[in-house]
Amino acid sequence: MKRNKFTITIVGHGYVGLVTAAVWADLGHKVYVIGRNREKINKLNHGEVYFYEPGLKKLLQRNLKSQRLKFTLNYQEALTNTDMVIVCVNTPGNHDGGADISAVINVSKKIIKNLQANFTVLAIKSTVPVGTNRKLLKLLKKYQKPGKRFAIVSLPEFLREGTAIKDTLHPHRIIIGVEDKRAEKLLLTFHRRFKAPILITNLESAEIIKYASNAFLSMKISFANLLSFLCEKTGANIEEVIKGMTMDKRINPHFFKAGIGFGGSCFPKDIKALTRILNKYQIDASLLNGVGKINQLAWQNAAHKTLKLVGSLKNKTVALWGLAFKPGTDDIREAPALKIIDWLLKKGAKIKAYDPQAMKNTLQKFDNVLYCKNALAAVENADVLIIATEWPEFKKVDWQLVKHRLKKPNIVDGRNLYYPDKMKQMGYNYLSSGR
Ligand code: UGA
Repeated sequence: MKRNKFTITIVGHGYVGLVTAAVWADLGHKVYVIGRNREKINKLNHGEVYFYEPGLKKLLQRNLKSQRLKFTLNYQEALTNTDMVIVCVNTPGNHDGGADISAVINVSKKIIKNLQANFTVLAIKSTVPVGTNRKLLKLLKKYQKPGKRFAIVSLPEFLREGTAIKDTLHPHRIIIGVEDKRAEKLLLTFHRRFKAPILITNLESAEIIKYASNAFLSMKISFANLLSFLCEKTGANIEEVIKGMTMDKRINPHFFKAGIGFGGSCFPKDIKALTRILNKYQIDASLLNGVGKINQLAWQNAAHKTLKLVGSLKNKTVALWGLAFKPGTDDIREAPALKIIDWLLKKGAKIKAYDPQAMKNTLQKFDNVLYCKNALAAVENADVLIIATEWPEFKKVDWQLVKHRLKKPNIVDGRNLYYPDKMKQMGYNYLSSGR
């Protein structure tokens, strides 16, 4: 097969669906995106994005203009002449920690009922527990129309918020869980241009690879945090400990930084879901339980440092830099900063917060926080500053000016952004993680 232009239908327009659609359209494919909210679909068709992701709006507008990208509520329209359908709907956590896959099932049924080509690939990008795709295949067969064959593929996604466009354009790896030869050939042809290593495997392995990758990275972060607690008690330095460890080529330094812990819509949800899957198969999941527990201790440890610096927090003013779960996004889901806000408010503190992108979202949850127009405004008259997200602008602040504005020169750095010795030299009471 020599073709390099495809017609693709994507279901769902969250981070994964929308970024994938915009990037693939920009590569020259014709992309339809199916949604279910008329207002959002209209906005998207007018080039408006309802969350922040660097570069996405421009990419969306360019591809709407070239008519390679279209958003619709209509399955029939989006499935005419399609080569493959990519399901990107979300699988939120259930009350018991398991993944809620009902949206994946519902949209897949609709797709199969509306199939028009004689052969269609149905690729599931949504993160689903092992066994889901095979069950789905069995279920969907019941709705299959005569002569309309389809193949199920597990196509896990590894993009990160904040760098989603780059990650989609230049993926580090492509994992394809596929057992149908025709589908395999089509997906290999489609993905060839990305020049990333491709692993063809079965449905179950692809499903596990997704959860295992996120759980492993979470585990690395929690391991760094666990060691940082020990460093604080013993006078060791976490950065040197990690440097020494990663001199061993078997231990990779990425995602191995101590701080206030991980957040976001993926790591916390996926370790819970993987725990649930292990439990289902009666496999001891205490390793993963520990990862979650340490992640709680990480933000609590940082929060308690404010008490060390200011004594009681009652009626004290705390400046908070960073609300998003990481830089480059306005996403506050499971953000450590929000857990700290909740804790500070319960202790009677007043909070002045600043984040370059995430204040609007945080206001929906906390209307009793004072949101400031910049980092300097937030520290004005504050008793202590907490740094919760490593936005690049926080690296470039004028520390003399900050000191002048703060009521007391107290800093809790939850992301280990600065050199402790330098901060001390400048007269700060500076506490960070594991140093
Ligand atoms: C994560 C994965 O990195 C992606 O590969 C995956 O596709 C995505 O989940 C998903 O499943 O959809 P994302 O949630 O965007 O991506 O965020 P990350 O960049 O992985 O960061 C997660 C959290 O770990 C952040 O709160 C970050 O601050 C924290 N982190 C990261 C640390 O605390 N320490 C580190 O050393 C690295």
